[in-house]
Amino acid sequence: MDDQFTRAEAAAKSVLQRSPLRPEIGLVLGSGLGGFADSLADATRVSYADIPAFPRSTAIGHAGQMVVGKAGAVPVAVMQGRVHLYEGYSAQEVAFPMRVFGRMGIRAVVLTNAAGGINVNYQQGALVLISDHINLQGTNPLTGANDDRLGVRFPDMTHAYDKSYRELAREEASKLGMTLHEGIYAALLGPSYETPAEIRYLRTIGADLVGMSTALEVISARHMGIKVLAISCVTNMAAGILDQPLSHQEVMETGERVKTSFEALLRGVLPRIQGDS
Ligand code: HPA
Repeated sequence: MDDQFTRAEAAAKSVLQRSPLRPEIGLVLGSGLGGFADSLADATRVSYADIPAFPRSTAIGHAGQMVVGKAGAVPVAVMQGRVHLYEGYSAQEVAFPMRVFGRMGIRAVVLTNAAGGINVNYQQGALVLISDHINLQGTNPLTGANDDRLGVRFPDMTHAYDKSYRELAREEASKLGMTLHEGIYAALLGPSYETPAEIRYLRTIGADLVGMSTALEVISARHMGIKVLAISCVTNMAAGILDQPLSHQEVMETGERVKTSFEALLRGVLPRIQGDS
């Protein structure tokens, strides 16, 4: 079996040979947020099933394709849907798309996700810049032998969520008259939502948001020196905050409701990141 570097290289080649574009920014669109990929110009769509070694998403609300196209003047590669640990994939498989982005020559990623709001200053539908994470998924995509071609054995995570990207995202949000919060994302395995006691625990340890993705992707991206901007959509308040059960339906509906402003923010941010990277 080929190593991860070689497989990522083959996957990157197979995507790039289908499009004349050379994407500079990689995006991952979370649950209910996939619509942005439909607005790209000169788009080439590649189903994950047609990319060698690429994991296929099974979650509802994840289309499972990579779209290479232009957001305004910015060539991007967009993952419409991601895979999660709770689907039974390994940490390495979950992070593999970041390896592919890296081998495509991409040096900046924008990761989006749906998250539960733990911070009571947030409301359903709020957009939150992730400033840091707490990885409670019990695994790490960098376990096993380190491949020095990808990155160092012990990558620094001090500035995992790029400060200047957050700054420019805040500037773009304010131009659009949008409120953009900032907070810490706790990544859990799922797929069950948290208990109210777990949410109280997460608040105590400093988490503002909770979700089931993103952290492993960020670890792999940083391992390769790829810069990261990550934005959560608070699709629901976390368990026990409101006296109502959580449902995937609610997560999808909120994603749908905020998508116009979320997409406007992405469109504003991408050229700024391109200029900054
Ligand atoms: N918990 C975990 N993951 C989530 C949530 C949540 O409340 N909402 C959306 N993804």
